[in-house]
Amino acid sequence: MDALRIHGQKTLRGTLQVSGSKNASLPIMAAALLAEGQSTLRRIPGLADVKTLSKVLAHLGVRVEAQGAELTLDATELTTHEAPYELVRTMRASILVLGPLLARHGKARVSLPGGCAIGARPIDQHLKGLRKLGAKIEISHGYVEAHVDGRLQGATVIFDMPTVGGTENLLLAASLAEGTTILENAAREPEVVDLCHTLQKMGAKIQGIGTATLTVEGVETLQPFTHDVVADRIEFGTFLVAGAMLGEELLIQGGVAEHQTFLIDKLRTMGARIEEHPEGIKVWRAQQLHATDVETQPYPGFPTDMQAQLMAAASIADGSSTFSETVFENRFMHVAELGRMGANIRVDGGRAIVRGTPELSGATVMATDLRASACLVLAALAAEGESVIRRIYHLDRGYEAIEAKLSSVGADVVRFREDS
Ligand code: EPU
Repeated sequence: MDALRIHGQKTLRGTLQVSGSKNASLPIMAAALLAEGQSTLRRIPGLADVKTLSKVLAHLGVRVEAQGAELTLDATELTTHEAPYELVRTMRASILVLGPLLARHGKARVSLPGGCAIGARPIDQHLKGLRKLGAKIEISHGYVEAHVDGRLQGATVIFDMPTVGGTENLLLAASLAEGTTILENAAREPEVVDLCHTLQKMGAKIQGIGTATLTVEGVETLQPFTHDVVADRIEFGTFLVAGAMLGEELLIQGGVAEHQTFLIDKLRTMGARIEEHPEGIKVWRAQQLHATDVETQPYPGFPTDMQAQLMAAASIADGSSTFSETVFENRFMHVAELGRMGANIRVDGGRAIVRGTPELSGATVMATDLRASACLVLAALAAEGESVIRRIYHLDRGYEAIEAKLSSVGADVVRFREDS
C-alpha cells in the first residue's frame, strides 16, 4: 500500500494547477449513457474514482477510451442493464447510472452502494424521485431493481434535503422522460450546474440552473456531447488552505473563486492574504492564523468537503474554533489522527471544538476517508519534523498527482510503498 512521507514546515511558493472536478466528472460520465454515439469529456482528472466509473460503464457496454485528461465514451450499444456489486461497492457514485439506464433502457439493476465511512448515506431520495417519474422499484438481494413501462413520465419531485447525487440522478432521468419534471429543493452545487450545462449541450431543456427549483422538459432523444469539466473546487479549496498555512505568494491557477467564496472569506478572516489576479489567485500565509467558527451547509454554504482541511488550519490557530458538521453524521474521523500530531480537539456530537496549539508535531497517521486524508496532508505540511500518512488510496480517489503538485511548490513530500 502506498504512503506519503512529509517533512513539514517548508514554505510553499510557485504555481499550482487545479484539475477538473471529480464530483462533476462522475455524473457527466453517466450522462454519456443517455445518447447513442461518442461523447468527449475533457479536463477529466486522473483519479481512482474516474477509473472505477469507467469500469462500470465498460461493463454496461460503453466503449471507453482514456488519453491523458480526455475521455471518450461511446454508448451506442448497451449490452446489459446491470451494475454489479463488485464494481459498485468501491464507489457510491456508481448509483448515478440508475437514472440514465432507466431512461434509455427502461430497466436497470444496480447494486445498492451500502454505507460508507462518513455516514450511512441512503439513496431513498433517488428512489423516491424515480418512482415519482413512474419507475417500479424493488430492493432485492442487495440490488435496486427498476423498470418502467414505456417512457418515464415527468412529475414534481420535492427532495427532503438538497441531495447532490439525488438531484443529478433525477436530472439524468428527467431529460429523456415524457413531459415536464420539476425538482424542488434541488442541490445547487457547481457540479450539478456543470451537469446541467452538459445535458443542455445534449439537447436537454432545463430551466432554473443554479437554483433550488429545476424544471426539465423531457425530450425523446439526446445527442452525444463534448465538454470541458469544471475545475475541482475542493482541490482548489485544499490548495487555498495550504497557502493560508504555508504560502508565500502561492499562485493557484484554474480554480473558480466564486465557487469558494465562503472559504476565501473565512481564510481572510483567519488572517491569510488572498488576492485575485488575472493569472489566478495568490495566497500568503497568515503570520498567526486566528480561530474561526464554521457550520457545514449545502452550497453556497461552507462545504462539508472542506471541513476537515480547514480544521487542520484551525488546529494551529490562535484561540478556540468550533466546527459544526450538519451534512454527514460521521465526518470527524480526522480528529483522532490530528490528535496524534498534537492537535487539541474535542468532539461533542456533531460539533468539534478546536483549541489551537502553536505547533503540530510530525507523526505516523492513517487516512480514513478522502477529505480526512487531505486534512492530514495539510497538518503534516505544517508540522515540525517527519510525518508518514498511511493508506493514501483514499487520497488518490480525489487528488490528482498530489505529491507531484505539492513538491513543485516546495513541499517535501515523497510517495513510497509501505511494504518495501
Ligand atoms: N441523503 C439521504 N438520502 C438520499 C440522498 C442523500 O438521506 O437519498 C443525505 C446524505 O446521507 C447526506 C445528505 O443527504 O447526509 C447529503 O448527501 P448528498 O446526496 O448531497 O451527497 P452525495 O451526492 O452522496 C456528494 C459528493 C460528496 C459530498 C456531498 C455533499 C459526489 C460523488 N459526492 O455526495 O463528496 O460530500 O455531495 O456535498 O458528488 C467527496 O468528494 O469527498 C465527497 C464525499
